[in-house]
Amino acid sequence: MPNTTIPEPEDAKKWFTSDTKFNHLYPASIQMMARRHWTPLHTAYKAANFLAAENGVKILDIGSGVGKFCLAAACYKPLSFFYGVEQRKQLVNYANEAAEILSLENVSFIHSNFTQLDIKPYDHFYFFNAFYENLVDTARIDESIDYSGELYNYYNRYLFKLLDQKPAGTRLATFHSLEDEIPRSYHVVDTDADNLLKCWIKV
Ligand SMILES: C[S@@+](CC[C@H](N)C(=O)[O-])C[C@H]1O[C@@H](n2cnc3c(N)ncnc32)[C@H](O)[C@@H]1O
Repeated sequence: MPNTTIPEPEDAKKWFTSDTKFNHLYPASIQMMARRHWTPLHTAYKAANFLAAENGVKILDIGSGVGKFCLAAACYKPLSFFYGVEQRKQLVNYANEAAEILSLENVSFIHSNFTQLDIKPYDHFYFFNAFYENLVDTARIDESIDYSGELYNYYNRYLFKLLDQKPAGTRLATFHSLEDEIPRSYHVVDTDADNLLKCWIKV
């Protein structure tokens, strides 16, 4: 991991001293899933800087979980807006509670399957391999939803089409992606975290 110094947002300073500290915004059951399911702060910082290269842009995290990427990114880039869409209501509740503790006004969470969301208003996207839970039967978040290979393919194709429709200049940051949801018009311009984080721009 490169030795980048991450500036600590003034208002929420104490929560950003480490991932362990940040994860204490959530209940113990959620903290235990962090290593596998929630974006590390260093990666959120890198991705936020890439996605919010201009002030005022709207960034959507597709499958936002308990909101860790959006919350950290919103602190690091206070002049941009971060939105998360998440299918599990309880995780959206945890994300909103954390946003309140951090007193953030440039972050918002939507309870929905991403296939039901109009993504036209969003400029750039973050994607942490959200559909992978359909391919493995270990360390799932819970058993509250259906999983299948068919769903994985359906979501992947759906996201591919959405990304394909966005204009040139659209930015995408992927973490742990298998890359089959990314149209060829997106090109890698930077990587981090041993290539697990990839930054793409549509040409
Ligand atoms: C690996 S977690 C990433 C969480 C968050 N993006 C982060 O980086 O901390 C993926 C999340 O995507 C959600 N997800 C999976 N498929 C989804 C779908 N079709 N619509 C909305 N959310 C989905 C899961 O419920 C899970 O919370």
